[in-house]
Amino acid sequence: APHLPAELAEAVHSARRVVVLSGAGISAESGVPTFRDAQTGLWERFSPEQLASEDAWWADPALVWSWYQWRARMVRACAPNPGHQAVGRWQRALAREGGSLQVVTQNVDDLHERGGAEVVSHLHGSLFEYRCAECGEPAEHDPGVAGAREDGAALAGHEDDLEQLMRVPPPRCGHCQDGLLRPGIVWFGEMLPSEALERAYTALEQCDLAVVVGTSAVVQPAASLPFVALGAGAAVVEVNPEVTEFSSAATWHLAGPAGTVLPALADLVDPAIPHP
Ligand code: APR
Repeated sequence: APHLPAELAEAVHSARRVVVLSGAGISAESGVPTFRDAQTGLWERFSPEQLASEDAWWADPALVWSWYQWRARMVRACAPNPGHQAVGRWQRALAREGGSLQVVTQNVDDLHERGGAEVVSHLHGSLFEYRCAECGEPAEHDPGVAGAREDGAALAGHEDDLEQLMRVPPPRCGHCQDGLLRPGIVWFGEMLPSEALERAYTALEQCDLAVVVGTSAVVQPAASLPFVALGAGAAVVEVNPEVTEFSSAATWHLAGPAGTVLPALADLVDPAIPHP
């Protein structure tokens, strides 16, 4: 288990209002690729402007729809890791003592929820929410399960594999009849959902501890949120094997993977399993 500075252990032990701010890195150990990893990052393999922007959507809805369906199927095939589970355990332990832990994530996967966390704000939307691109009506849609047929060579890793991706047009809206369904994802150039953002600001202004895990802290406005906690006098611990744009401002930087470090923090408030 990682060595935790005594003051950090004390801060975790006494914190009653905790916010966990997570990015793609918390899902890395579940097998979900991050964005900016030099080897496997999605933006190393695909271009966000070609796939994650409104212009891209209007230019080629079938390509954008299929790529997000592939990502949704891939997430379905992955499982929450000990990092997600530790956040759920910590949240339940605090709730038992009248405290609270809120999850504010940039991730569009559902692994926090499947790892047992309840209060989760998705700043960038979700792969499993859909709405009509014309009338905005929410819609249910099942992305299906990962399968070699639809997903080509499971997009082994090259942009040209996009051609292998089974291009399917998005379904039509059942409400207005003429709009196309789009993923409930915040695309490049779009505004973030205001209620999720407001909930995040309120939680960070009132917390006594924030945990920033698995984000490179380069994309706004999420990258500014840890400074809201610092400005409100909270301690902020960063969990990331790498140094990030935020590391120099963090109260503590724990250089390790979420799947190892988060359980060690949760054990301090919920010693369900005595530390080996
Ligand atoms: N545990 C903790 N952190 C990890 C792990 C791990 N096992 N593996 C990788 N990381 C860290 C990396 O060091 C990196 O700092 O996770 C971070 C991932 O950074 P990004 O790939 O940039 O992902 P993220 O910060 O979530 O991106 C923000 O950009 O493209 C948009 O909408 C997209 O929400 C995303 C946003």
